[in-house]
Amino acid sequence: MSITKLFGNAMTWKEFWKLISSNVQFAHMKVTDRCNLRCGYCYSNTFGEDMSLDVAKRTIDALLGLNAGSVWITGGEPTLNRDLVKILSYTQKHNLATGLATNGLDKKGNAHSYVYLEDLVGSGLNFVSVSLDSVRDTDVSEKSLERLEPLFDRFVQLRGKYGTIIQANVVINRQNMYELRSLVEFARRKDILIGFSLNMPPLNSDCHVLENPALLYGEDGYRYLSENTCAWLIREQQAGNILGLPEYFKDMQQYLQGRHNMYCSAWKKYLAVDNQGNVLRRNRLSQGPDAKIWELTENKLETYRAQFEQEI
Ligand SMILES: C[S@@+](CC[C@H](N)C(=O)[O-])C[C@H]1O[C@@H](n2cnc3c(N)ncnc32)[C@H](O)[C@@H]1O
Ligand code: SF4
Repeated sequence: MSITKLFGNAMTWKEFWKLISSNVQFAHMKVTDRCNLRCGYCYSNTFGEDMSLDVAKRTIDALLGLNAGSVWITGGEPTLNRDLVKILSYTQKHNLATGLATNGLDKKGNAHSYVYLEDLVGSGLNFVSVSLDSVRDTDVSEKSLERLEPLFDRFVQLRGKYGTIIQANVVINRQNMYELRSLVEFARRKDILIGFSLNMPPLNSDCHVLENPALLYGEDGYRYLSENTCAWLIREQQAGNILGLPEYFKDMQQYLQGRHNMYCSAWKKYLAVDNQGNVLRRNRLSQGPDAKIWELTENKLETYRAQFEQEI
């Protein structure tokens, strides 16, 4: 069934965003910890087996029980989970709006085939965020245009058929910071959304980046970022050329000087379920089993919600 049939009309990204933002139960499902790449900045860790289809279905059932309107599927690299298409079919069957974060590459580092992508999109994907960091591979990331352009073309074709929203997601790092304009230009040419985030430190507070951000971006780099990139990105956003920017762009200077006590707060109030079915606070997804608050199987989601509602 196509997304258009599911929702009457294909959603615009604004509608999708409103939907996910208005639900406190906006949930992330980490369907695998495994990955085919080793990005230099990655905060993801490896802890165990892929999420099984059974755990995925029980998670989705539980989320539906909480009236969640959407689920965001992530990893590791989610396309390595062999049951991903079945998981998506299950979310579609239950009318759960679904987004996927992916690097778009297969085990050999090539863009996924049209046939596989159609399986994904056709089984119920409303929003896909494909990571795109640079024009060519760098030491930090292989999520480059030279590898991914065919993938974006395939998604654009599939968008015509299924209405899926496509976003390129860029993590600004030491090696791509001078070519961001090419990426915005690419997104404009293909008529896809583009979003940016900074290279967030891991969530443990003794991370060196907080003490000396220049280690991450280099002295010149972080001056360039705070003096040029920040203002330019805000202008691009105001012109409607890029998707919303995280809050911290408004005071990038402060962020880059480490004068803040902020971690990836984008996730703070959301629910996350890791690959073993553990329910976590979303901002701890990358911290592993010790961050677990309840096991889904303990059926404590209602308790979580009660506590959550008290906090807001
Ligand atoms: C953890 S990845 C999972 C999906 C997939 N493997 C990918 O890279 O797209 C989800 C998103 O988080 C981004 N990411 C990973 N580590 C990050 C960090 N330290 N700071 C900011 N974003 C990060 C990735 O680039 C990707 O866009
Ligand atoms: S950012 Fe994504 S693609 Fe890169 S290593 Fe982490 S999980 Fe893998």
